[in-house]
Amino acid sequence: MNRLFLLGVLALVLTACGQGGSEPGISIAKALSLAPEDPALADQYRSSCRACHAASNSGAPMTGSLAAWKPRLDKGLDVLVEHTITGFKGMPPMGLCSDCSESELRALIEFMATPPQEDGA
Ligand code: HEC
Repeated sequence: MNRLFLLGVLALVLTACGQGGSEPGISIAKALSLAPEDPALADQYRSSCRACHAASNSGAPMTGSLAAWKPRLDKGLDVLVEHTITGFKGMPPMGLCSDCSESELRALIEFMATPPQEDGA
């Protein structure tokens, strides 16, 4: 009984930490502050992906949220690149970056799926 109760509490805590539903798992402000280090890639990110992938209500997996990206990554990066090129459910083809190459899209996905490094704190 006691053990079940503890499991229940753990499940609740995990949900509150962003495992469940629409919880983004990263604050919008934090997600908005992130950009790829490469300046050209950062430009492409800011003018396309970021509009949806750093917005709470777009349905897109949030930039920097491992909880949001884990189930996507499980499909394999090649599949994700393919879905980005062709479009996937709510996401338009090429993620609205018409001048992105396949390798740039791949780099953008890897960037978005990587949680930010905590500086010090
Ligand atoms: C107009 C909004 C919008 C833009 C712009 C956008 N996305 Fe998305 N993206 C979405 C939404 C919504 C989803 C979730 C689709 C779903 O699973 O329902 C998504 C999902 C994805 C996925 C996961 C696909 C899968 O198979 O699970 C990848 C990868 C992705 N986006 C990459 C990108 C990249 C890279 C860019 C920029 C070049 C980008 N997106 C720009 C809205 C957008």
